[in-house]
Amino acid sequence: MLSTIKKILRPYLINYVGKKIPLTWELKDPSAWICKNWEGEFLNPTICPDSVLIEKTAIATNEQGSQPLWQGYDESKKGNAQRKPDTVRTQPFMGNAFCHLVQSKKPKVVVEFGTAFGISGMYFLSGIKKNNQGRLLTFEPNEIWANIADENLKKIGPQYLLIKGTFEDNIDRVLGPEEKIDIAFIDAIHTSEFVLPQMEIVLKKAQSGSIILFDDINFSSDMLNCWKKIAHDPRFIATATLGERVGIAEVK
Ligand SMILES: C[S@@+](CC[C@H](N)C(=O)[O-])C[C@H]1O[C@@H](n2cnc3c(N)ncnc32)[C@H](O)[C@@H]1O
Repeated sequence: MLSTIKKILRPYLINYVGKKIPLTWELKDPSAWICKNWEGEFLNPTICPDSVLIEKTAIATNEQGSQPLWQGYDESKKGNAQRKPDTVRTQPFMGNAFCHLVQSKKPKVVVEFGTAFGISGMYFLSGIKKNNQGRLLTFEPNEIWANIADENLKKIGPQYLLIKGTFEDNIDRVLGPEEKIDIAFIDAIHTSEFVLPQMEIVLKKAQSGSIILFDDINFSSDMLNCWKKIAHDPRFIATATLGERVGIAEVK
């Protein structure tokens, strides 16, 4: 009985927990979009318009149980590795921050990889829908996870393209020659060996003012060093850590 009540209330309450997110600046420039728009040491994002639907969808997705990991992970080569959807998803407070960023920056193209079960994607997509402009390109090579994500994203709106493959193999095919990436969310394999080359591809397709978000920067010492390098890369005008695990960088 108590667990049923908790489950019903969770999507309504969860967005109000830890709403203010600490912002730790690494590089600051008063002319940068993020510095002008996100002054101070905390980000207090608005609640995403579809937060209740997204969180209800996330609960239902998690109830489908563990799903097999993509073969691109070393762990999956050793055996039958699986993950429960809740263990790989962006948390609601960060989802609100992503939706808030989209609503204020009004991007034409948002790129995210990987999609996993579509939870972060739903937050980005909700902001795009609210803006009435832009589209989300989201990449996921795990076909089982991508099929679940597709069902989830559909509930928010049609302004997305889900590519069942890696970002690296497919971005040239789906991004128009004149299009630029305005916001990118790099949330795939969390090692510098993958993240740094992926960032280089994003940078080639970005423009001044584009924002790159990096997830799990505190995942390992390798990722912490990788973030330190990125945070002081002169190709960025401003960089900051959002909460403990997301890095944000604005292209110069
Ligand atoms: C941590 S999960 C993503 C979670 C999701 N962004 C969210 O917050 O709900 C990482 C995902 O990246 C996918 N992936 C790994 N390498 C990739 C690549 N090169 N391109 C696209 N997706 C990739 C994995 O299959 C996995 O589903």
